Amino acid sequence: MQLTSVLTVALSALTLTSANPITPMARAGNPSLIWHASNFETGCSPGGCTYHFNITGAASENTPGFSTSCSGTTTQEDYALCNDKHVKAQVIPELYPMWNVKVQHSWDANQGQAMFFALGQANITSSMKNFTIPVTEQYGVA
Ligand SMILES: *[C@@H]1O[C@H](CO)[C@@H](O)[C@H](O)[C@H]1NC(C)=O
Ligand SMILES: *[C@@H]1O[C@H](CO)[C@@H](O)[C@H](O)[C@H]1NC(C)=O
Ligand SMILES: *[C@@H]1O[C@H](CO)[C@@H](O)[C@H](O)[C@H]1NC(C)=O
Repeated sequence: MQLTSVLTVALSALTLTSANPITPMARAGNPSLIWHASNFETGCSPGGCTYHFNITGAASENTPGFSTSCSGTTTQEDYALCNDKHVKAQVIPELYPMWNVKVQHSWDANQGQAMFFALGQANITSSMKNFTIPVTEQYGVA
C-alpha cells in the first residue's frame, strides 16, 4: 500500500514535469516560418526617417497568425508597437539605401502561463516594397 502511494506521488511528479512549459516551447521552434511585409515606405527629413509597412504572418501549428500595420521612426531606440500590439517593429538605417527591418511577434500560451516570442529580420533596400522576413529566433518564457 505504501509503495503504491509513493509510486503515485512519483508518477504525478513526472506528469507535472512533462507538462512543464519547457517542453512545448522547445517544440515551438520553427525556422521555416516566414512573414510577408508589404507597402514598405520611408520618408526622410534631416531629423530622421519615418517608416510604414504592413506585415502578415500565417498561423502555423504552434503560432497564431497576424496581419497588421507598423509605423515609427528610425530614431526610436527600441521596438515600437504596431497596430496589433502583439507585433513590434524597429527599422534601422544601414549604409544608404539599405535598411535593417526587425519584427517581434509575441503571444500567450498555456492559458497565459507562458509567453512565446518570435523574432525575424531582413535587410532590404528602399526600392523594395514587398519582401519576406524569415523568423530566425523563437523562444518562450514561463
Ligand atoms: C505588394 O503587396 C501588396 C499587398 O499584398 C499588393 O497589393 C501589391 O500588388 C504588391 N506589390 C508588388 C510590387 O508586388
Ligand atoms: C495595410 O494595413 C492597413 C491597416 O491594417 C490597411 O488599411 C491597408 O489596406 C493595408 N494596405 C495594404 C496594401 O495591404
Ligand atoms: C543585416 O545586416 C546586419 C548588419 O550588416 C547584420 O548584422 C545582419 O545579420 C543582417 N541580417 C540578415 C538577415 O541578413
